[in-house]
Amino acid sequence: MTFRLAPSLLSADFSRLDREIAEVESGGADLLHLDVMDGHFVPNLTFGPPVIAALASSTALPLDAHLMVTNADPLLSPLAAAGVARVAVHVEACPHLHRTLSTIRDLGMAPGVALNPSTPISLLEEILESVDFVLVMSVNPGFGGQRFIPHTLSKIVRLRALADRDVLDISVDGGVDTDTIGPLVQAGATTLVAGSSVFGRTDRRAALSELRASGAEGPGLQGETI
Ligand code: DX5
Ligand code: ZN
Repeated sequence: MTFRLAPSLLSADFSRLDREIAEVESGGADLLHLDVMDGHFVPNLTFGPPVIAALASSTALPLDAHLMVTNADPLLSPLAAAGVARVAVHVEACPHLHRTLSTIRDLGMAPGVALNPSTPISLLEEILESVDFVLVMSVNPGFGGQRFIPHTLSKIVRLRALADRDVLDISVDGGVDTDTIGPLVQAGATTLVAGSSVFGRTDRRAALSELRASGAEGPGLQGETI
């Protein structure tokens, strides 16, 4: 089964971002995942549209913005101007979700919704047809390097049963490594976000190749059934 790899810049060395991006770009990444955090929706603070605009000029990778913010709407236009390809907003943070997703599409970007581990997929019932992708969080958002939460696997299986691969991209974010990627692809994930398992390694090309190989093999997680 085909799937895409989206290294998450959160685990990169922030003092040399252009070189970090060049390494994953030449190493075989499909997208670049950008975690925008506001210190309110999540307890961490990262970067926003000005930094993303600066980075956009140094890469041809499609930019995949993950907004972990309480007020996403004012960021959308600047993100579009920066050249971002797709934007995920958290269902838990967007009271007017349909309007926010429509704005993202009207600005020429692909709209997606992100779900925290505790948020049920039933919350997507009225909105699934309006999105190009769902970002399933397999850790509680805010930090890189956390442990994968196993019940995410059954969530992906149930979500995939609602929409085919050619209609809906299911992205998974958190704890993606060579142990978890196989079961995730098997469950129906089509984009795998990986922070520490790529940028935590010195050889980013090797990290991406190993993830690709493990994802293609699709072994089951020990003790987990899909
Ligand atoms: C966490 C972020 C992730 C993070 C994943 O809130 O959304 O994108 O970078 O990091 P790893 O892959 O290390 O779990
Ligand atoms: Zn993310």
